Amino acid sequence: MRKTLFYILLPLALVLAVSLPGLMAAEVPCEIEIAPDSDANPLFPSVTFSHDVHADLQCADCHHMFEGSGTIDSCRMCHMDRDPDYRTDSMSYYFAWHGRSEVSCFGCHYAKKNRKEEHGPIKCFNSGCHPK
Ligand code: HEC
Ligand code: HEC
Ligand code: HEC
Repeated sequence: MRKTLFYILLPLALVLAVSLPGLMAAEVPCEIEIAPDSDANPLFPSVTFSHDVHADLQCADCHHMFEGSGTIDSCRMCHMDRDPDYRTDSMSYYFAWHGRSEVSCFGCHYAKKNRKEEHGPIKCFNSGCHPK
């Protein structure tokens, strides 16, 4: 009896062990605070990013390294370069949010505005992304 139970539970435990990390990765934080791009730049207060507001988009529209399965990593894990030349470096923290590519906040909002589609803010302050 014990043995039979073991052989029933073993595969179950294996399935759980494999799928749990996947389930946890699918947990999407609702709101995320994106802190200023450098300590030397306090002029730009933190931006609050909301997944809910962007629910009509595909995950990979922003998570450009995500191929449909597996974990979704934060942008800042890769875009961590806070060097003074950050504005021109596509791997920089600044560029991830402002680069002229449709995966960045500004890039997508701006491109959609040009196409006359529904879009998010394109200004820095005053009804833009950074509160002031
Ligand atoms: C409009 C862009 C956008 C869309 C669409 C989007 N995300 Fe995100 N997501 C972000 C940003 C920005 C962050 C914060 C990254 C950071 O802090 O570096 C984030 C963070 C996350 C995180 C946390 C990662 C971590 O390790 O902190 C998960 C998980 C995640 N998103 C999953 C999803 C899933 C699943 C979808 C699709 C259902 C999705 N996201 C759609 C932009 C987006
Ligand atoms: C696993 C590492 C990794 C993660 C996570 C990642 N990126 Fe990137 N990103 C890269 C690499 C490498 C490049 C340069 C090559 C490329 O374009 O794919 C890049 C390029 C970019 C570019 C410039 C694209 C261009 O055409 O010039 C932007 C903007 C960008 N990422 C934004 C983001 C945002 C926003 C997130 C999170 C939602 C994110 N990245 C998550 C590695 C990453
Ligand atoms: C791939 C396209 C895309 C990307 C990338 C994107 N957005 Fe948006 N964003 C939109 C669209 C479309 C809307 C309008 C959605 C709506 O109002 O229903 C929007 C709306 C917004 C709004 C307005 C919310 C409101 O309540 O009116 C804010 C703030 C915003 N985005 C911030 C961000 C930030 C911060 C990032 C980057 C971390 C980002 N977005 C990245 C497409 C994008």
